[in-house]
Amino acid sequence: MKILIVGGGGREHAIAWKLAQSPKKPELFCAPGNGGIEEFAHCVPIRATDIDGICAFAKENAIDMVVVAPDDPLVAGMVDALTKEGIRAFGPTADAAIIEGSKVFSKDLMRKYGIPTANYATFDNAKDAICYLEQSTFPTVIKAEGLALGKGVIIADSFEKAKDAVLQIMMDKKFGKAGDRIVIEEFLTGREISVLAFTDGKTLLPMCSAQDHKRALDGDQGLNTGGMGAYSPSPIYDDKMEAECMEKIFLPTIRAMQAEGRPFKGVLYFGLMATKDGVRVIEYNARFGDPETQVVLPRLKTDLLSIMEAIIDERLSEITLSWEEDAAACIILASGGYPKSYKTGYEIFGLDKVEQATVFHSGTKIEENVYKTAGGRVLGVTAMGATLSDAIQKAYMEVAKIQFTDMHFRHDIGRTGVL
Ligand code: AMP
Ligand code: GLY
Repeated sequence: MKILIVGGGGREHAIAWKLAQSPKKPELFCAPGNGGIEEFAHCVPIRATDIDGICAFAKENAIDMVVVAPDDPLVAGMVDALTKEGIRAFGPTADAAIIEGSKVFSKDLMRKYGIPTANYATFDNAKDAICYLEQSTFPTVIKAEGLALGKGVIIADSFEKAKDAVLQIMMDKKFGKAGDRIVIEEFLTGREISVLAFTDGKTLLPMCSAQDHKRALDGDQGLNTGGMGAYSPSPIYDDKMEAECMEKIFLPTIRAMQAEGRPFKGVLYFGLMATKDGVRVIEYNARFGDPETQVVLPRLKTDLLSIMEAIIDERLSEITLSWEEDAAACIILASGGYPKSYKTGYEIFGLDKVEQATVFHSGTKIEENVYKTAGGRVLGVTAMGATLSDAIQKAYMEVAKIQFTDMHFRHDIGRTGVL
């Protein structure tokens, strides 16, 4: 069986690593892939957003299944295009991926179906938004409607800052068309939790919980990034909270998507906040999270390929997930300067010395048989342990063996998870 994975980061490395363990022994391809993924898959130089290129490659090479991992091609309809060509594809159609692609859509969906989330208003022009802000209390949260590389959310603690955010998004078009409309929403406080779930549109199986660290520097300081590390499980997400989420959030969401004629098939990511009034949805993603996947898939005992096939065939109810008891922690090693400007092309040393962790490559390439840095986030070092503290300690021990010029990482990954 031939599988093509679309994408080229740490998440796709983790998916390739997990699929490579399948008893079905698939032959793996990845577009575009990266230096680490090459160990498991034939990497082909096609961009993850090149829908025609991916369809053509899949047809020419008789690919049996395509796994579309990143947000942009999902929202742009890659799964629809593949399906039209008769190629089996894992991931939501564009109609369903809109749950991530448009925050106006997702907020209106939650309001219509009574799914708990922050109160909000939506705007398609700066003047009305600023008028609304004049009556608001602060902090407040301003969100660009569309995909903005995780940077489209601004928490403003004063009217001036909020107004400035609105002007940057709607007038200066900081995020391009993604900022044509905005959501202004109530600022919530509480602990955040990420829960990824497999769903075929009817059945929903939550994965183990996780928590990511978005800020660049220790103590949640510095700029927002794509994620500087993650751990699993979240200590606050117990059976009671899972039952609450199933009843009030997870099942209502897939039923709502069904009712709207947009059945969601694939991985639905719930970004949650546990507030004093109960769990609220902060955001939905239409895919595996990065770097959450790098701590969730290592704990999954069930064959990932069987799960993906069951989702495509809408028989997920036949699957039972089983999980390792051990906790997992992933430390991201980034290029100095990330998420602002940074240099790449530096040789990476010490990967061969890593013994007690799995290193997922986010941005690397192989040149003359050596691994070199090729992105802002470079590597994710995932270790498992009987407790989260053990996992964290092991991950940092292995991180100490790896070096490249200007390497930067956080020293406090997982600390919030150790009660
Ligand atoms: P998002 O891209 O929607 O996940 O938002 C990025 C981050 O902004 C989240 O992980 C939260 O930390 C924060 N955030 C988003 N919405 C809210 C909210 N309504 N109240 C407080 N913090 C929020
Ligand atoms: N870690 C957050 C995301 O994948 O969007």
